[in-house]
Amino acid sequence: MALMLKNARVIDPQVELDEVIDLLVRDGRIVEVDKNLSMEKGEEVDLSGKILVPGLVDMHVHLREPGFEQKEDIASGTRAAAHGGFTAVCAMPNTNPVIDNAVGVEYVKARAAQVGKCRVIVSGACTKNLEGEVLSEMGDMIAHGAKAFTDDGHGVQDSGMMRRVLDYASQFDRVVMVHCQDNSLVGEGQVNEGVASTRLGMFGWPAEGEELEIARDIALCRLTGCPLHIQHITTARGVEMVRAAKAEGLPVTCEVTPHHMFLTEDDIDDTYPTSLKVNPPLRTKADAKALIEGVVDGTIDAIVTDHAPHTDWEKDREFELSPFGMIGLETSLGLVLTNLVNSGVIDYARMIELMAIAPRAILREDPVRIEAGSIADFTVIDPDKKWNVSRDNFYSKAGNSGFLGFDLVGCATDVYVGGYATLRDGKIVE
Ligand code: DOR
Ligand code: ZN
Repeated sequence: MALMLKNARVIDPQVELDEVIDLLVRDGRIVEVDKNLSMEKGEEVDLSGKILVPGLVDMHVHLREPGFEQKEDIASGTRAAAHGGFTAVCAMPNTNPVIDNAVGVEYVKARAAQVGKCRVIVSGACTKNLEGEVLSEMGDMIAHGAKAFTDDGHGVQDSGMMRRVLDYASQFDRVVMVHCQDNSLVGEGQVNEGVASTRLGMFGWPAEGEELEIARDIALCRLTGCPLHIQHITTARGVEMVRAAKAEGLPVTCEVTPHHMFLTEDDIDDTYPTSLKVNPPLRTKADAKALIEGVVDGTIDAIVTDHAPHTDWEKDREFELSPFGMIGLETSLGLVLTNLVNSGVIDYARMIELMAIAPRAILREDPVRIEAGSIADFTVIDPDKKWNVSRDNFYSKAGNSGFLGFDLVGCATDVYVGGYATLRDGKIVE
């Protein structure tokens, strides 16, 4: 079926496009991009006043299926993704069972094909059961469609083991994504070590617990040549290390979350809000500023959510007993538009690099470009829409957002995956 998308401001820095123009789509691909297009038969959508960009990709999402469907499942998580403007997510393997073999990869792919509302890119564990002791079946998982490897939620504690992970993965041209956490320093840490841990009277999670593993993994990247991606970077010194690694020409990339950019340890007040308990923890104002500088100057490659849904009964507990994590799929785009784009910190082209182009490149996915022949995955944005973050509007099963009550400007209204609408006027197309 033919689809005509008319009158949107279409932006794609990959093809140096930023103008009001029409798109003709057929059989899941772009056929033509030009002014005043017309067609014989098909569906026509008027997108006047909207912005159309290559479909956004969130490369760090916990869909929780199999095993933790009480928190989220592939049906609800991919609906939340589409509602947030995403055409694809990369699912983390810390499910139950852990995705550390081909059967797990096939399960996630099959469920996503059955019930998904966006593309699901499957990542597999680096080590069996995320225990950091035995290599996972990486080759088998790649043969069954895994795109990347990570023990997210855990740092690989043993440096020799991490070297073996990178040595093994390097033969496949796949990225190893690392959650940097040295347990011997982090221990029972709950919040950033320093002012916050002292003020709140809780064990500290020191910046050095993250930075030591970043430094080690960059060194091991140099040793092995394996592409390395630092997940949810949070500290100024971490950004500096990635900057230096890139200057040296190492294949190192990194990502940042909206919560680490737009919230800080100062937001954790004496109500002990467990929605702000995340791993790694919210850091200082100076760290958040350095993260935004890294986004602006290109040191940070991607914005991701680390969407980490939990049930109310898990989060409504004492801070120390509550699990780490906050959801993010349905607020990420609005937060980035409000805090970075509308305020002039970055332009749309840079936002597209961070949220669409780089994630695909890092995950070795085919690029989506606004030109004839490309896959028809698009995100349509209303840049002026004012809205308030409320749990009532979430498609996620979970409500553990640190941004409830925030006033934002800009959101996704329509999303197309392979030429089919998954979101129309802000509602999921069932
Ligand atoms: O806050 C987090 N939650 N950080 C992680 O690394 C894991 C995640 C989870 O799985 O809940
Ligand atoms: Zn993580």
